[in-house]
Amino acid sequence: MKKSNTKLNQAANLLRDSKHTIVFTGAGISVESGIPPFRGEGGLWEKYDPIVLDLNYFLQNPKASWQALGELFYGPYGDAKPNEAHYALARLEKQGIIKTVITQNIDNLHQEAGSQNVYEFHGTLQTLVCLDCGEKYFAKQINFDNLPPRCLKDNGILKPDVILFGEAIPEEAASQSAKEALQADVILVIGTTGEVMPACMIPYKAQENGAKVIEINPNKSNYTDSITDVFLQGKATEMMQALEVELRS
Ligand code: APR
Repeated sequence: MKKSNTKLNQAANLLRDSKHTIVFTGAGISVESGIPPFRGEGGLWEKYDPIVLDLNYFLQNPKASWQALGELFYGPYGDAKPNEAHYALARLEKQGIIKTVITQNIDNLHQEAGSQNVYEFHGTLQTLVCLDCGEKYFAKQINFDNLPPRCLKDNGILKPDVILFGEAIPEEAASQSAKEALQADVILVIGTTGEVMPACMIPYKAQENGAKVIEINPNKSNYTDSITDVFLQGKATEMMQALEVELRS
């Protein structure tokens, strides 16, 4: 006799029977690594005006924008570590249960946890580029004491390789993510409000193509009452660990 048909059991069965499961993550998966979300309780947009992440604002006010970027991302959260949810996803990838992680996050925590197949829809904080000559730098090379950081070659202003509002999504991330959304028969959506276009369209695309949607979030999102098939209401670390236990049972 099959065990009671709990939501965890339903989710585990979907993952077991899946041929191509992809994962779509947002800021919520990194909250338990100490990085605040953007929206909701304690969200960064309560303290900062999102304009600081706008491309035109950055180009016109590089110093002010860099001060915010420094506080928002390179400062206290710069040394955040992956949490159990990131590690669980890396383990599931090694077991062949999930194929790809498409993340909106720029914190590199999926890669640090060992996930190999990761597409960063909003770029990364790890590298910076000179707006004049295109020279690339690693964030570790930069002295953030004097802002904006400048290129050693031509003194041009450096910009982090994150996608600011108004900036195009990196071509490879966009095309690979669209391909994955078409190929997926299950999509696991973790820690995102589903607010920001075009990233937020990925779960809708997968679902339209017949994928089942499993969602992990302590709160409801734009997906929960519209396309989510199995809503695992809770924190990412708790739900991912419970899911791993269920998959082993
Ligand atoms: N575990 C899982 N989810 C959580 C947790 C947790 N411990 N804590 C909070 N959440 C959920 C919140 O309920 C919310 O749904 O994480 C989500 C965070 O939502 P947002 O802050 O809107 O983050 P995200 O959806 O990734 O934002 C998308 O907006 O500002 C831009 O570029 C930025 O990539 C970001 C994009």
